[in-house]
Amino acid sequence: MERLQKILANAGVASRRKCEELILSGKVVVNDEVVTTLGVKADPATDVITVNGREITQSDKVYAAFYKPKAVITSMSDPEGRKTVRDFMGGLRTRVYPVGRLDYDTEGLLILTNDGELANKLMHPRHHVEKTYHVTVKGVPHGDNLDKLKKGIKLEDGVTLPAEIEYHDVNVETNTATISITITEGRNRQVRRMFEAIGHSVIRLKRVRFGNITLQGLVRGKHRILTKSEVNELQQSIKTSRRS
Ligand code: URA
Repeated sequence: MERLQKILANAGVASRRKCEELILSGKVVVNDEVVTTLGVKADPATDVITVNGREITQSDKVYAAFYKPKAVITSMSDPEGRKTVRDFMGGLRTRVYPVGRLDYDTEGLLILTNDGELANKLMHPRHHVEKTYHVTVKGVPHGDNLDKLKKGIKLEDGVTLPAEIEYHDVNVETNTATISITITEGRNRQVRRMFEAIGHSVIRLKRVRFGNITLQGLVRGKHRILTKSEVNELQQSIKTSRRS
């Protein structure tokens, strides 16, 4: 027996939070009974579960790596009509949902899956999954300032956890620097805010790694299905990166 919202999320209906909303709004029926509370458990193998009148099936799990271009929102729909990641997910046999988000103007690696359980774990701050970004900033940050980012810097929502930082490139002509930063949190606009806090605004931001998955070999705007061993490693990275 499993909680209903978990069964729905695992079946690829929507994210766990959205599934909770579906339950609370009376859209979910288990064996002819409408369920409107969140504690209810069911057996996905034997119970007949419908959402908006349609029976759910336990679809196979799908995991994809996507190279999100700039000017695309990390969402499956947009009331303002902007491009969303769904526009790039053609060819997948089942609906997948983004694991976390990248800003509209950030490009790079986004993991998508219909495995709500793994998605939740990958996003949970407790698991400290490493994410690496290439950041191009205005000006050339001083080593002392980069040390602040390495140790943890105070932002309005608290001090950041230690980050790994490396210089990639300094362009004297354009007075810009490109830096590689690895963080283990996923706060809103975190990398942009970290660099703003040391006085350097971000011109370009690209995520190149999420856990063991890298952007290597992916073409902008395209996705690929992760292999079994990549998924296993991703699962493993949650266990090994947990610090508390
Ligand atoms: N940090 C940011 O500031 N933006 C992103 O999109 C991801 C991390």
